[in-house]
Amino acid sequence: MTPASRPANVRRVMPVPSALACVRCRARYPIDHYAQDCPACRAGGAPANLTVAYDAVPGADTDRGAVRLDRGSMWRWQDFLHARAADAVTLGEGNTPLLPAPSLGLGDVWIKDESRNPTWSFKDRLASGALTTARRFGAKVIASSSSGNAGAAAAAYAAKAGIPCVVFTFVGSAGPLVLQMRAYGAMVVKVADKADRWRLQTLGVREFGWYPTSPFFGPVVGSNPYGMEGYKTIAYEIAEAFDWQPPDWCVLPVCYGDALYGMWKGFEELKALGWIDRVPRFVAAEVSGSLVAAIEGGDALPPESPRNTPSIATSIGALQGTVQALDVLRKSNGAAVTIGDDDLRRWVLTLAAKEGLWPEASSAAPFAAIERLRGDGTIKPDERCVALLTAAGLKDPGPIEQAPPEPPLVSGGLRELMAALKNSYGFHG
Ligand SMILES: Cc1ncc(COP(=O)(O)O)c(C=O)c1O
Ligand SMILES: [Zn+2]
Repeated sequence: MTPASRPANVRRVMPVPSALACVRCRARYPIDHYAQDCPACRAGGAPANLTVAYDAVPGADTDRGAVRLDRGSMWRWQDFLHARAADAVTLGEGNTPLLPAPSLGLGDVWIKDESRNPTWSFKDRLASGALTTARRFGAKVIASSSSGNAGAAAAAYAAKAGIPCVVFTFVGSAGPLVLQMRAYGAMVVKVADKADRWRLQTLGVREFGWYPTSPFFGPVVGSNPYGMEGYKTIAYEIAEAFDWQPPDWCVLPVCYGDALYGMWKGFEELKALGWIDRVPRFVAAEVSGSLVAAIEGGDALPPESPRNTPSIATSIGALQGTVQALDVLRKSNGAAVTIGDDDLRRWVLTLAAKEGLWPEASSAAPFAAIERLRGDGTIKPDERCVALLTAAGLKDPGPIEQAPPEPPLVSGGLRELMAALKNSYGFHG
């Protein structure tokens, strides 16, 4: 029976998580195995994350027209997710704008502006997905190792769920982001040595059963599988906005590849239902070079790629990519591009001045990647790209603070004002 012809009194079939499956070898583990990776793949030298598997095909019984009507949060896609909207820990995340960006000179490019989420980053979808399951499993404490957006989002959603939250950061983390965590009442703990964050979080998880939303052991595999389900909704929203004609390319700033994997999985699910006829190709815009090296070398595990100086895109500054990210690039016939600081700064300023969107430095990486790939012919002139703008510029104002000119100090009258505008901005009235 088609969803449209179903009588009102027949219960819809909602998929329920039946296992956590390895993203690489598909081995299945119990649904409470969320604080571990796949032991088989780790033993084989290519540690891999787990992803939620369902007892029925997600969305198989869904009327896509009805999904469109409810704009309350990403949980309007509950038929594809691991919990019902009524049980979700939500702050109204998702349903972010998809904006054309004709002034960038990059061709047919659209911006999925995730800075409009409740804590001003895409990590809200991860936190909503993870905290919903934390509450269901009766978690007593949430734990996150993040100096950035993931920690801020975990803190906010833990506050909403009424569960205490410990966030491990390190000395020298960006001020606004740590302030955000404190504002939501998280217990923020600083460490001097970055490695101590994971060591301490591991102790909390293994000794006390704290519920992890972030990675906390290496080689890193990615984040909490229930959190990653939230990223599928970015794919659904994009497909829906383009009337089920997906773009040719999706381009993301990538660190652990959680969003990359989640979006790819979302498009794959829509394709399995026949709602779309193909899955976009994916581009990872990274700063380490780890995924680029793995693709070139045919590696099973992206290598560590140390840098001489840290990138200004601190949110995606990890030195090693993940198996889940590499897998998506290979399966989607995609690409990886390594982006440097000059390009990041230039694209932060360009996006703000030309499109009125101020991204965090890491969120400028997709635009530099599209520029590069249009330039070398990988992305064809007539192909459509969606760039994921993952977080807002106020979280990390450095690139604007350091950009000339310093605003002039003016006293006196109109003559002095016009002279200052001319000197500082080249404005002639
Ligand atoms: C603003 C921003 N963009 C991109 C990323 C990369 O996300 P992922 O780990 O899903 O690749 C992060 C966090 O890691 C981030 O904070
Ligand atoms: Zn495995």
